[in-house]
Amino acid sequence: MNLEYLPRKIRDNLIPAPAGNMCYYCLECGQRFDIHRLLYTCPDCGQVLMLEDTDFQRLKNIDGKTWREIFDARQMLKLPALRGIYRFHEFIGPIIPLEAVVYLGEGHTPVIEASSQLQAMAGCRLFYKNDGQNPSASFKDRGMASALSYINYLLRQGKMENVLAVCASTGDTSAAAALYSAYLQPAVRTAVLLPEGKVTSQQLAQPLGSGAKVFEIPGVFDDCMKIVEVLSERYNVALLNSKNAWRILGQESYSYEIAQAFDYRTADLAVVVPVGNAGNITAVMNGFLKFLETGIIDALPKIIGVQSMHADPVVRYYNTPAGKRKFKPVTVKPSVAQAAMIGNPVSMPRVIRLVDKYNDMAGRQRVFFVEVTEQKIMDWQLTANRHGHIACTHGGECLAGLQEALARAMVTEDDTAVLDSTAHALKFVGFQDMYFQGQLQRSFNVVSKPELINLPVKIRPGGLKLPQPGEPLTGRDLERFVQASAETVALQLNLKKG
Ligand code: F0G
Repeated sequence: MNLEYLPRKIRDNLIPAPAGNMCYYCLECGQRFDIHRLLYTCPDCGQVLMLEDTDFQRLKNIDGKTWREIFDARQMLKLPALRGIYRFHEFIGPIIPLEAVVYLGEGHTPVIEASSQLQAMAGCRLFYKNDGQNPSASFKDRGMASALSYINYLLRQGKMENVLAVCASTGDTSAAAALYSAYLQPAVRTAVLLPEGKVTSQQLAQPLGSGAKVFEIPGVFDDCMKIVEVLSERYNVALLNSKNAWRILGQESYSYEIAQAFDYRTADLAVVVPVGNAGNITAVMNGFLKFLETGIIDALPKIIGVQSMHADPVVRYYNTPAGKRKFKPVTVKPSVAQAAMIGNPVSMPRVIRLVDKYNDMAGRQRVFFVEVTEQKIMDWQLTANRHGHIACTHGGECLAGLQEALARAMVTEDDTAVLDSTAHALKFVGFQDMYFQGQLQRSFNVVSKPELINLPVKIRPGGLKLPQPGEPLTGRDLERFVQASAETVALQLNLKKG
């Protein structure tokens, strides 16, 4: 839409110019550091960092209603830089000029209301936000668009050159990192470290296809993470894990989009997210907090973090009474929510701070954690998809987590749940195959329920010539084959002659 058609009152604010004053901020010791180099941990105390706009107060010069109008009007503009996560430019990367924004179609993923049958089964009003409909088929593209736009900004200023971007990954971060870096090649190249045999074949294919250097490492994600930490401390590489605070900023867009999708009425929402390395839940909390502080929303939604019992360090921490909590990493067991199979989440210190801040700002407990069995993750994923969704196993984990949260009255039937399907079902389809073939039992502790199994039926009419590769049937043979196959399919479907 042409700018001229939009109200004069907001027109001057629709296309944002660089503003603000960003710095890294240490959650532990409160020190601030210049952003003109990539920094991942506090040089003084070693703690993970967040990014902060020290001039955030200026955003309060615009009232909440006007902000809402600005974001809604931006939805109608065709400017590529504002079509993705930078629709919320002032809240994500205000110093980044729009020319430096890398937009590959991320963000603004559909929010799909579940069918009445699924809502009845689930026990409350329910939506899926399909983050698998991002370009690399997971939510990681949000943070990657932010991190690579920042790198692009430094490249354009001549403050960086020949970047080698690295990350450890359970599959999705590496797919997103490789995709966004490929867009900026040759200035940016990527190398990714994956736990051998613990990413799906689709996830392995993604960075290979984008031209990244792929290393398979024995062990689990936590081992890969330790290795990239050493690389980023000793060598001149850009770390693209969510330890990089630019990733968190981009992922905050998930909260902004939920607010916008529900017309900024967030009081009765329960936002359900899977927790692995805990970057996502960090960003989701921080995003809602920033919108509350600027009056764009007037209430913080509930947030439910879900973990599998096979990888549950965050749940264990919060299950301990408040005064006695001490974070302990866990040794993970195989999980169908494989991308969240993490025993020592890098963002745990951020989570600990932000959960307290979130609950304080809300004046009551609004962040909850629950854990679920592998069985429930699979059963609810398959059930969701049988009702028209494209939820990945982590999306199934959210629905299983919602059940637990309802059972424990953390969520009530008056709430509206928004579930994060963090990736596309197709990335994790191998787990569905194993479930259908009854092969998940041993390591995952999952029994395939007959009513959820679906296998193809082979049609091979007997005593007839069948089509062979490169040898199509013709004439009478083709006719007999078609007739016999149609009869067999009709019999299978119990069809009546019409
Ligand atoms: N869902 C999916 C599909 C993921 O890929 C991840 C994390 C999570 C949930 C958990 O999110 O780590 O922010 O708490 N995947 C990372 C990776 C670790 O390397 O792709 P988190």
